[in-house]
Amino acid sequence: MGRFAATLVGSLFGLGLLLCGLGRLASAEPRAPPEKIAIVGAGIGGTSSAYYLRKKFGKDVKIDVFEREEIGGRLATLKVQGHDYEAGGSVIHPLNLHMKRFVKELAPSSVLAGLSSVPASGGLVGVYNGKSLVFEESSWFIINVIKLVWRYGFQSLRMHMWVEDLLDKFMRIYRYQSHDYAFSSVEKLMYAIGGDDYVRLLNQTLRENLKKAGFSETFLNEMIAPVMKVNFGQSTDLNAFVGAVSMTAADSNLWAVEGGNKVVCSGLLQASNSNLISGSVMSIEKTRTKQTGTPPKMYEVVYKTGSEIHSDFYDIVLVAAPLNRKMSNITFRNFDPPIEEFNDPYQQLVTTLIKGELNSTLFSSRHKDQFGLSAILVTDDSDMFINSLSIVASVSHKEGPPPAVDGMHVWKTFSKDILTKEQISKLFLSYDYAVRKPWLSYPYYNPPQKCPSIILHDRLYYLNGIEFAASCMEMSAIAGYNAALLAYHRWNGNEDMIDQDDLYEKLKTEL
Ligand SMILES: Cc1cc2nc3c(=O)[nH]c(=O)nc-3n(C[C@H](O)[C@H](O)[C@H](O)COP(=O)(O)OP(=O)(O)OC[C@H]3O[C@@H](n4cnc5c(N)ncnc54)[C@H](O)[C@@H]3O)c2cc1C
Ligand SMILES: *[C@@H]1O[C@H](CO)[C@@H](O)[C@H](O)[C@H]1NC(C)=O
Ligand SMILES: *[C@@H]1O[C@H](CO)[C@@H](O)[C@H](O)[C@H]1NC(C)=O
Ligand SMILES: *[C@@H]1O[C@H](CO)[C@@H](O)[C@H](O)[C@H]1NC(C)=O
Repeated sequence: MGRFAATLVGSLFGLGLLLCGLGRLASAEPRAPPEKIAIVGAGIGGTSSAYYLRKKFGKDVKIDVFEREEIGGRLATLKVQGHDYEAGGSVIHPLNLHMKRFVKELAPSSVLAGLSSVPASGGLVGVYNGKSLVFEESSWFIINVIKLVWRYGFQSLRMHMWVEDLLDKFMRIYRYQSHDYAFSSVEKLMYAIGGDDYVRLLNQTLRENLKKAGFSETFLNEMIAPVMKVNFGQSTDLNAFVGAVSMTAADSNLWAVEGGNKVVCSGLLQASNSNLISGSVMSIEKTRTKQTGTPPKMYEVVYKTGSEIHSDFYDIVLVAAPLNRKMSNITFRNFDPPIEEFNDPYQQLVTTLIKGELNSTLFSSRHKDQFGLSAILVTDDSDMFINSLSIVASVSHKEGPPPAVDGMHVWKTFSKDILTKEQISKLFLSYDYAVRKPWLSYPYYNPPQKCPSIILHDRLYYLNGIEFAASCMEMSAIAGYNAALLAYHRWNGNEDMIDQDDLYEKLKTEL
């Protein structure tokens, strides 16, 4: 209630700022724009950078976006009996202003049909410890409050305030970006948002941070760890910032894009008037060979389409895919000093969609007609082979999951390994259909951990280091915008727009 109003005011305020920001796009006298820019990866990071690069550099620059699989990357759907369901990034927070803005701005182009709320966030949640449900949400708000206070004192309220405070500061990034300010590293971006305290969130585990703040072991194990597990496949050993991001996914009013979140990526690609190249980038090389035409381009991108190998020259290159051998597998050549090998580990995670009737007696002795939970989270010591289990609605369903036919629902599970038939049969009394998608999903968080650099070379930028602060759609969009601004300001020598101190104070008076 109060929360909803606050959210609404916050969003209107944010959008207002974005609009104001657009008014002053052309400040300094820019030099001639670059001729060609390459972006590797057509996920939300790559496509949002294409969108902002076009806004900054204007209509003449040629933007090539390389994608070796599908547009959307980790935003993808799976089909169950003719309906599409989100298999990767699925929920968006009401204060994710970039995602919100994309949908709003792209909607008229008819690529995007509109929004739909994510009904899963409205369903009742239970937490299972391997023997019984240690927490079970009720449809009565007041009962939930009593249960929470009874079991954990006022810790859930304090937790809520802890997250709110961090989120409140986080909103500053939108103001900085709408005024065109860029950051040359993730740490500097985090510092601009909330000073040393904010940078320190990356250096501490969530557990350390919350224990210091006086949260109890029981609360951490029963309430916080299960939320970390469903959102980031890890326990409270991840960094405190991604922990806070993960907690916001427990807020209300979460939403998703009708037709699938990935349509935002195709929309951005189209709006940016970029050229999509379906191919796999193998290497990025600092050019040594003499080129015809002036001025010479700095980088050569070598890529494969089918079995053919091609290459092309670019003034600026953005890498918008995780840099490691198992994922993007890009080699950097002729750089002096050499560009470091990235070996940051990403977690293996499997999404499985199952249409079936849950064996609810596995979790509760209650009769199945009275079970009523639509999401089950698990504690660390539950010894379960899944990280979570929840009823999901298809991407084109505005009203939420359809009523169950014979107790059948489409359930989504995340697990570390591929589920065996036996495991699925253990969870379900019966099932019609199962489909899965394995991912290298998000970083394995191991604080203290340095975020990979954004500037790899003069005009070579890397977006996905931001995932080591937190991996989600909005963070990739922020990284995409930041990289576009950084590339633009560095091209034009606008040093005064990069890594500025005291931005918050400076912009306070400018409003
Ligand atoms: C199971 C799961 C659930 C998630 N849930 C949520 C959620 O609810 N909410 C949320 O906000 N976030 C969620 N996330 C995280 C979110 O999906 C990601 O943070 C975000 O989509 C990352 O976008 P990106 O553009 O940075 O990277 P990606 O989407 O990975 O895009 C990189 C692209 O680059 C391409 N590529 C890689 N190498 C090359 C190459 N050499 N040549 C050409 N192309 C290449 C890839 O094919 C890919 O399409 C989830 C992720 C997963 C896996
Ligand atoms: C965080 O840790 C890094 C080293 O991992 C250190 O350089 C930095 O000063 C730390 N920052 C804060 C704010 O504690
Ligand atoms: C990475 O690319 C090289 C060729 O560029 C190839 O030989 C190797 O098998 C690839 N590695 C993976 C894990 O795909
Ligand atoms: C459902 O799970 C319970 C508890 O594990 C088990 O005893 C029962 O046999 C299962 N029912 C079916 C039909 O598999």
